[in-house]
Amino acid sequence: MLIDTYGRVATDLRVSLTDRCNLRCTYCMPEEGLQWLAKPDLLTDDEIVRLIDIAVTSLGIEEVRFTGGEPLLRPGLVGIVERVAALEPRPQMSLTTNGIGLKRTAAALKKAGLDRVNVSLDTLRPDVFKTLTRRDRLKDVLAGLEAAHDAGLTPVKINSVLMPGLNADEAPDLLAWAVEQDYELRFIEQMPLDAQHGWTREGMVTAGDILASLRTRFELTPEGSDERGSAPAERWIVDGGPHRVGVIASVTRPFCGACDRTRLTADGQIRNCLFAREETSLRAALRSDAPDEEIARIWRLAMWGKKAGSGLDDPSFLQPDRPMSAIGG
Ligand code: 5AD
Ligand code: SF4
Repeated sequence: MLIDTYGRVATDLRVSLTDRCNLRCTYCMPEEGLQWLAKPDLLTDDEIVRLIDIAVTSLGIEEVRFTGGEPLLRPGLVGIVERVAALEPRPQMSLTTNGIGLKRTAAALKKAGLDRVNVSLDTLRPDVFKTLTRRDRLKDVLAGLEAAHDAGLTPVKINSVLMPGLNADEAPDLLAWAVEQDYELRFIEQMPLDAQHGWTREGMVTAGDILASLRTRFELTPEGSDERGSAPAERWIVDGGPHRVGVIASVTRPFCGACDRTRLTADGQIRNCLFAREETSLRAALRSDAPDEEIARIWRLAMWGKKAGSGLDDPSFLQPDRPMSAIGG
C-alpha cells in the first residue's frame, strides 16, 4: 500500500506522458511554450508500463489516469493503454486531454481498453477559446468530444476553468450545453500552477461565484456528501436530475484530507502532491536495474512523507517549480 503518516492511502495513479501541449492556455503556459523535457529524460513506454505494473501488483493502485501536457501527443499512447489493460489486476483507466486529436484516436483507445476521458474545455465561444488557449481549435475539441462519446468512453467528463473577464459569465451556458450533449461538467477553481506565476486569489473565480451564477438558471440540489468519498468534485443534481454538475474547489474548499493520489511525471519523478516542492526519482532506480521490490520501496517512502495539505492558505506558500503541464493534472 501507499500510505502516509496521516493514514491516507493512495489508490489513484496519475501518469504524465509528456509535458508538451498543442494549446497554450493562459492559466497554464506562456505564449512561447516552455523548455520541454529532453527525450532521453522521458520514461520510455516500457519503463512506464513496468512502473504501472509495480503500482498495481505491489502498491494497491486501482485507477490509472494518463495526463500531460497533452497525452495524445505521445506516439505510444494506444500501445501503453493496451499493455496496462492486460495487467493483473487490471486498473480502471482514464485520460485527461484537451480533446484535440480525440476524433482520430477515440475508437482505438476504447478498443485498447481505455475506460473514460476527461476533456478540458473552458468556453463555447470561438473568439474566447482563441484568446484563452491562443489557438483556434474549438471545432477540433468539439469533434473530439463527440467521437469520445460515440466510442463509449463514457461518462465523458468536461473540466472547465473560469477566468474573470474572459469566460466567467459562461457557467450557465456551459452547463445547459453539457446537459444537452450528455457530458458531465465539472468546474475547477484556478490554482497557482501556471508557469508564469500570474495566479492571485483575488483574480480567481471561486466555487461560491460559480454556484451563484449557475443558480440564476438551474435548480441545484446537493448530492449526498457520502457520495463524494475521495472524489475532489462536490456534485449537485441539476433541475431534479438525472444530470449532475461538479465543482472542484481546490483553493476555497480543499479536500487534502481525503486525497488518494500519487503522481508520476513524464521524466520518472514521484510527486506525492500537486503542490509538493520535492520529488523522488524512480528513473535513476529503473535505469540502474533495480528490482521491482526496490522500486516499490522508494515509491512507498516518497508517499510516506506526504504533507497534510497543499499549504495554499499558509502565508509562506511557495508555488512548485514545475507548472501543471509538467506535473499532470
Ligand atoms: N488551475 C486549475 N486547473 C488547471 N488546469 C491546468 N492548469 C490549471 C490551473 N492553473 C486544468 C486543465 C485540465 C486539468 C488537467 O487541469 O484545464 O482540465
Ligand atoms: Fe495544454 Fe492543458 Fe496546459 Fe491548456 S492546460 S496548455 S491544454 S497542458
